[in-house]
Amino acid sequence: MADSLRIALAGLGTVGAGVIRVLTENGDLIARRAGRPIEIVAVNARDRSKDRGVDLSGYDWEDDMSAFATRDDVDVVVELVGGSDGPALALARKTLAGGKGLVTANKAMIAHHGMELAEAAEQAGVPLRYEAAVAGGIPAVKGLGEGAAANRIERIYGILNGTCNYILSQMEGSGADFGDVLKDAQELGYAEADPTFDVEGVDAAHKLSILASLAFGTRLDFDAVDCSGISAIRAADIAQADQLGFVIRLIGLADCTYDEMGCHLFQRVAPCLVAKDHALAGPKGPTNAVVIEGDHVGQLLLQGAGAGMGPTASAVVADLIDIARGFNPPPLGLPATMLQPSTPADPAGRHNRAYIRFTVADRPGVLAEITAALRDAEVSIESLIQHGKPGEDGEPVLVAMVTHEGPEGSVAKALDLLAGSPALTEAPLVMRLID
Ligand SMILES: NC(=O)c1ccc[n+]([C@@H]2O[C@H](COP(=O)([O-])OP(=O)(O)OC[C@H]3O[C@@H](n4cnc5c(N)ncnc54)[C@H](OP(=O)(O)O)[C@@H]3O)[C@@H](O)[C@H]2O)c1
Repeated sequence: MADSLRIALAGLGTVGAGVIRVLTENGDLIARRAGRPIEIVAVNARDRSKDRGVDLSGYDWEDDMSAFATRDDVDVVVELVGGSDGPALALARKTLAGGKGLVTANKAMIAHHGMELAEAAEQAGVPLRYEAAVAGGIPAVKGLGEGAAANRIERIYGILNGTCNYILSQMEGSGADFGDVLKDAQELGYAEADPTFDVEGVDAAHKLSILASLAFGTRLDFDAVDCSGISAIRAADIAQADQLGFVIRLIGLADCTYDEMGCHLFQRVAPCLVAKDHALAGPKGPTNAVVIEGDHVGQLLLQGAGAGMGPTASAVVADLIDIARGFNPPPLGLPATMLQPSTPADPAGRHNRAYIRFTVADRPGVLAEITAALRDAEVSIESLIQHGKPGEDGEPVLVAMVTHEGPEGSVAKALDLLAGSPALTEAPLVMRLID
């Protein structure tokens, strides 16, 4: 058998310890598949004394992870520290500049610095792989970059954050409100102590921007993702969606329309009403799912665990196996110089049905004011539901409606007309329908 692929592991947390487990438990099988053994040479984390449930005695401990980038006995550095900048980025830069391959699960770093890192990897002629960064164990990067490589991609969308999917499906099952379910999710380890990145859609936006670049051959543009999360969703919205035949899911969606100016890239992460018979209504709990629509393959659905020790480590090791086999495609699907700039698409002309929930003062004339604004903006209402009062008399009332299919710009105009109205006690919540 050929020489080992020698790796250094920076980060020994959930994913790092998982990688050691996978390589230890399946080492022989992996060596046969890769054509050579994958050997851990050195490791690093913050706290050397921490018990990580894996045996580290056979590996060198480096106090400074940046030393990996210059060690002669390391072929590939595996970055599992996290954070878009800081030590992870410094290590990534130094590793690629030093002519070593890099494997990472770090979506924040790839979303923010993927262009620079891809260029550095290509210049050095070394692999940069990040399968685990997008939807954990699901081979979404491979699915797009290899499985669907023959296709013009029309649209890519999916459930890209397990924490949000867990919270939404728990709200669905229990009738509980967001705050209570979030607390349970934190106690059970499904949500971070600071859940902001997950529940406000930022984590899903990181992944979506990476998928969009791979799908449409455009330069990574995380800043252009239109991003909202799930913290405004109430039990009443879930119940209303249910009666209408829908569930609520946080969906990341990207597509591209072309004209003489090039690609107008639409990238949005937002909660949506998904019809109960749609493929994306099925995944419950922390599951992720990615739908790829290609002009020849049609619709592909990739579904599985979007996070967790085993699934994420499985994706990291799959990247290492590719490198051991000598597979080194351009990190973003095309050589970085061939990736096209895009302009953010104007959503005003997109046509869809929308669920709009108003929270209004309980007094006469309020409904008339809302319907007048919708009429003036040429939004046509398909159904209107006025919820009972959530609390005592005088408490705000929820009024929800579903619109007929129409341009998003009209809904935006109606909301502009209502902005500042004393009738509304909080900002309206708009969710698009996917059926
Ligand atoms: N967890 C998942 O399910 C999952 C899924 C997909 C992608 N990812 C990505 O994988 C990466 C790692 O995630 P994780 O869940 O394994 O994180 P984690 O459990 O928090 O582990 C992070 C590791 O990095 C080490 N570390 C942090 N800051 C450091 C520093 N300044 N210097 C040296 N070591 C440092 C920590 O050391 P100590 O242990 O000594 O504190 C720890 O071993 C992140 O980019 C994450 O987004 C995670």
